[in-house]
This record gives sequence, structure tokens and C-alpha cells, in this order.
Amino acid sequence: MRAVVTRPGTGRAWIQDLPDPKVVADDEVLIQILRVGVCGTDREVMAHGNRSGRGLPAGDDYLVIGHEAVGRVLSVGRGVRALSAGDLVVPTVRRGCDTCLACLNGQADLCFSGNYRERGIVGLHGFLAERIVDHEENLIPVPPELAAIAPLVESLCTPEKALRRIGNARSHLPVGGEMNGVQRALVTGSGPIALLAMMALRLRGIPTWQLARQPVDGPAAALARRLGADYVPLQEVNLEDPQTRLGEFDAVIEATGAVEMSVLMIGVLGRNGVLDLVGGPPERKAVPIEAAALGSMVGRNLTVLGSVNANADDWRASVRDLSAMRTVFEGVAEDLITHTFDLSDAEHAFGRVPGQIKAVVDIAA
Ligand code: BGC
Repeated sequence: MRAVVTRPGTGRAWIQDLPDPKVVADDEVLIQILRVGVCGTDREVMAHGNRSGRGLPAGDDYLVIGHEAVGRVLSVGRGVRALSAGDLVVPTVRRGCDTCLACLNGQADLCFSGNYRERGIVGLHGFLAERIVDHEENLIPVPPELAAIAPLVESLCTPEKALRRIGNARSHLPVGGEMNGVQRALVTGSGPIALLAMMALRLRGIPTWQLARQPVDGPAAALARRLGADYVPLQEVNLEDPQTRLGEFDAVIEATGAVEMSVLMIGVLGRNGVLDLVGGPPERKAVPIEAAALGSMVGRNLTVLGSVNANADDWRASVRDLSAMRTVFEGVAEDLITHTFDLSDAEHAFGRVPGQIKAVVDIAA
């Protein structure tokens, strides 16, 4: 079968013929991959790998890339309970270390040891292939009407976890309501994670602002309007005093990954506010931070947290919310997929082109 592989450090991916995967264990499922999304993590893996030692699967000198997939079940092992041929599924990404308490309790997203593996990212082959095999417990069923946009289920998991973590971080407050009293939320950035975070917030009826670099008449602002969110271009914000233009927020999701933005966002949190960093700046770069910013963390009971990956509840919430988004924000989820490539052309899917939000690779004919 054909697959798209990389070797971390090359910065490229290419098509390679690989042996067909086979169901070996009773709980395994053979899946025909239909569509795979491309994300920034793929480019990072291609450029330098995700972990020292480069994270190649044992015994192989290449990695099948891709971790945002949807596929159709072709056949199942004898012990598979809830899936059968024809079902649509999205495979989850992280596989636990099998030793720490988090992984042993089905919470590999919280792995203590750091020895987890992630399909298409570190230690295990990914999904940009004609067929894959995985265990039933790693497969999330999706309804047929989501087929075209289902690679977004994986992207939406990140904001789902962020929303859950922000709600948890506010659970001690004597308030009720969505995410424990979040009445104003801000999302930074204009990539798929930022846009899906805004959709998830608006789906919960939370007044939401977006802060990004694009001009006010650009495509990000147009999408924000379709969600009933307010778009603020970064150039309208005084970086010394961001609250004058933006006001205060109970929750901020930082999805640009720019360290300057992460620090700036402390300054727009209202009392008891929570900032969740989901961008994960990769560079080793220092930025100045005023003592007063840390002082305000104390004086305002602020929480700054980071969150990565997602647990099974987040995956299920992602499927549920993506279905609801299709109805509530008609056509928006579909419009996040701006570029489609055929498998034969997949190596070009990883380039960045202007106006691109999400690129996907179509695999099945
Ligand atoms: C993926 C996560 C993964 C993270 C770190 C993200 O792009 O969506 O599933 O845990 O990268 O590797």
C-alpha cells in the first residue's frame, strides 16, 4: 500500500510503498483511511522530530506521518465489540507508557513519565496511509455526515481539553454557569485551533473575542463574524496597555504559540481569570516580563496553565460539538478546510500557502 513517510530532520515527506497492515490481535481493527488533515506538528516532526532520538518507530528508519484522520472499518478482530465493517472512525493519537498512574488509568494525555508515544508524531507510525490497524479502544466512532470534516475532530480535541481545564481551574469559584462563570472569553490566533476554540466557546453561548494579526477586513474577521464573535486586529492593541482596547477576560486561550503573546495575555485577565496556553512555543527565546504582571497574578488570583493532547471525554465531546457546529454555524467547519490534495500529491500538502487554514489529503478513490 502507499503511505506518506518522513525522516525527522529532512523537512520533507514522500510517498513510499509499505506492506499492508494486518489484524493480528483479537481487539484490532483494519481501517481504510479516507482523509487526513495536515497540522503544524507534522511540519515540526519533518523538520526536527518531536523528541531527542528523533522518535522513529522501533526498527524503522522512517515515520508514516499524519495524526488527524478519518477512516472506514474494513474488518475487525474476533474480540471487537462495538465496531463493524463500514463504520466511520477517527483514531486517537497518544498511546500511554503503560507504567505511570495517569496512563494506567486511561489518561495518557496526562502521562507522568513522558514515555508516551503518539501515532505519526513520536515512536509510532501515523495515519497518512491507505490502510492502518489499531486497537478498538483507540477508535472513536463518528456519524457518516461528519465524514468530510472528521479530520477536524482531532484538532477540536485540543480546545475541548482547554475548555475543560479552564472550567476545572475555576471550579472553586462561588459561581455557576458555563465553564464556571466565564462571561467573556478571548482566543488569540487565526489557525484551526484558534477558530475551533472560538466555535466551541460560541456553541456554549459565551461572548467571545478573537485577537490576531490579520486586518479587520481579512478572512479571520469574516469567520469571527459568522460565529457571532468580535475580531480585534493586533495592530489596534496598545501592547503596553491591552485592556484599553480589549477589556478584561475570565478565560483566554492562547493559540498563536508566540511567547510575546502568552506574556501579553496575562495583562487582559480579569479577577480569577484563567489563561490556557495551547500553542506551545518551540523556540528557546526569552521575553521580558514586568514584575507587576506576576504581581497581578497574585493580586487577582490568576491561573496560567498549559494543556496538550486530550482524554477520551474530550474526543467524545469533540465529535458531539463538531456535529452541533455543523447545524449552528452552517458551513463554517467545512470552510476551515481550505485546501485538498490527492494522495499522489501529498508531499505538497505540507507547504504553507497564503489563506490556508486546514489542508487535507484525500486517500480513498
Ligand atoms: C496533537 C496532539 C499531540 C501534540 C504533541 C498536537 O499537534 O494534536 O495530539 O499530543 O501535538 O505532540
